[in-house]
Amino acid sequence: MSVSAEAFGYVADLVRTHSAIQLTPGKEYLVESRLMPLAREKGLSGPTAVESYVREMRRRADRSEVTRVVEALTTNETSWFRDNSPFVVFRRHVVPAVQSLHPGPVRIWSAACSTGQEPYSIAMTLLETGESRFSVLATDLSTAVLAQARRGEYSQLEMNRGLPAAMLIRYFARSGAGWAVKDELRRTVTFTQHNLLSPPPSGGPFDVVFLRNVLIYFDAATKRDIFTRIRRVMRPGAFLILGAAESTVGITDAWERVATPYGSVYRVPGGTS
Ligand SMILES: C[S@@+](CC[C@H](N)C(=O)[O-])C[C@H]1O[C@@H](n2cnc3c(N)ncnc32)[C@H](O)[C@@H]1O
Repeated sequence: MSVSAEAFGYVADLVRTHSAIQLTPGKEYLVESRLMPLAREKGLSGPTAVESYVREMRRRADRSEVTRVVEALTTNETSWFRDNSPFVVFRRHVVPAVQSLHPGPVRIWSAACSTGQEPYSIAMTLLETGESRFSVLATDLSTAVLAQARRGEYSQLEMNRGLPAAMLIRYFARSGAGWAVKDELRRTVTFTQHNLLSPPPSGGPFDVVFLRNVLIYFDAATKRDIFTRIRRVMRPGAFLILGAAESTVGITDAWERVATPYGSVYRVPGGTS
């Protein structure tokens, strides 16, 4: 059984307010399946468990429960070197360009990083080029995914999704039935909780921002606001790397689209190279 229209509307409003994620009608099944474990934890069961859970939550207006509901409705799908070509563009085009922008370490922000595969893939790419003067700030709304990212522990199934064998051997060690990131890689990435609806985290100005596979959940006005905030913490000549289904077209002209032989990226005008 699915949640009532009223309970669905309440949860959709809550999630929109706290994360900007749009739960459009038809996503009732998602609310039902994602909130069922929370309802079970409260001892609720049967076809009306989620409905009762939402009713009780509304009554108590408990902030930590709101956080749990919002986090439960985020989609955390990710993998190592996801889609591959952005990492080829990054290695071959972006890294050489930003290395000549200024003499300091390269600063990268992986926004909406989920369980860490993206920022660790960025860091492995840089280490493989021989670059060691860099830092990766990795942020996400969800404290649950950040906890795993910080631990740097992954199951065999997670490791099988896109990680080349040579990288596995160099950067990971066995940990129980799974694998753990070695210190050489772990110390290059800092994880912090951050909501894209808030002002950007400190640590900028950034040379590269990865903002991948999260804008798809937002409406145009939210995307525009997020682009405006992110642009402010990127230095002239810095690069923005979006997901395959995402673009700045029709939303902002704050970046120039740069077509490379390996795929497109967006660049803040004014860099020296
Ligand atoms: C599909 S994952 C993408 C992970 C990674 N960037 C990738 O491309 O593989 C989307 C992530 O966005 C996060 N997210 C959703 N809304 C957010 C918000 N308002 N602020 C920050 N992160 C958010 C979710 O928690 C989730 O981990």
